[in-house]
Amino acid sequence: MLELFAREVKEGLSQSPKRLSSKWFYDSIGDSLFIRIMNLPEYYLTKSEEEIFAKKTYQILSSLVPDSGEFDLFELGAGDGSKTMHLLTALKTRKFTYRPIDISSNSIDNLQKRVAEELPSIEVEGMQGEYFEVLAKLTTGRPKIILFMGSNIGNMLDERANEFLLKLSAVMEVGDRLLLGVDLIKDESVILPAYNDSEGVTAEFNLNLLDRINRELGGDFDRKHFKHTPQYDKESGVAYSYITSMIEQDVKIDALGQTYHFVEGEKVFTEVSRKYDEKALAAITNHTSLKLVDRIFDSKEYFCDAIYEKE
Ligand code: AVI
Repeated sequence: MLELFAREVKEGLSQSPKRLSSKWFYDSIGDSLFIRIMNLPEYYLTKSEEEIFAKKTYQILSSLVPDSGEFDLFELGAGDGSKTMHLLTALKTRKFTYRPIDISSNSIDNLQKRVAEELPSIEVEGMQGEYFEVLAKLTTGRPKIILFMGSNIGNMLDERANEFLLKLSAVMEVGDRLLLGVDLIKDESVILPAYNDSEGVTAEFNLNLLDRINRELGGDFDRKHFKHTPQYDKESGVAYSYITSMIEQDVKIDALGQTYHFVEGEKVFTEVSRKYDEKALAAITNHTSLKLVDRIFDSKEYFCDAIYEKE
């Protein structure tokens, strides 16, 4: 893992413009910051999807879960699993295995403990790994339901999201179902504060990546000379996060044996958070064998859980 982190940081900082992947946000500090983000008043995404799972549990069940028989319930990027608990509670008399998957082993451990305590009748088998890497392990011989919630798909550029869904649909059997949670295109006045909250937690989350490089790769990033600078592009419906260098400076990273130069105002691209409408959603499911069977919205229509069936 450390080698991959080093390799990707080296590659990303050697590019022009410089970039660092948002997947590296999630060390144990990043995990706790993301939990704080999900509870921020400005971060409407989690609350909207939570409302769908709490109030429309039975619509989700009828569109997503086979009426009878055993199955496996996979969850990609499970995080703390709060929303899923509504579904698990409604399913507690069914025979199935809940298989949460997350890049953070920390999250998986906590989630396994939570389900064991709150819903002891449910069998849980967590797995740590990256989305693309775990695809091959999704074959269990039983019908599959896959949850990919939280608009996590929006953290991939469209081409990559389409590639991911193509690979995901290729490991699904006919009749298997996918619930894809996506944040919808809406006014900038709602979206931008979600990525630039007043308490500065999102800034902390973004800048923790520099601290992580310092901690794990012996970097000497000086936080006070960098700033979190998010942007929302109304035309495309995409929110971008950047870390901007506030002065001209050099940063040395011991483990990479390199020094990187930053000019004043130089932006390092760290994250894409796409927002969707029907067209954008159709673009990422293009050429897959996934057929849209239901779309479930929260009361403000900020968020959508789209349900697909493999044909
Ligand atoms: C995990 N993901 C869907 C979050 C998002 O909204 O793009 C990550 C995040 N980045 C900043 N705030 C939250």
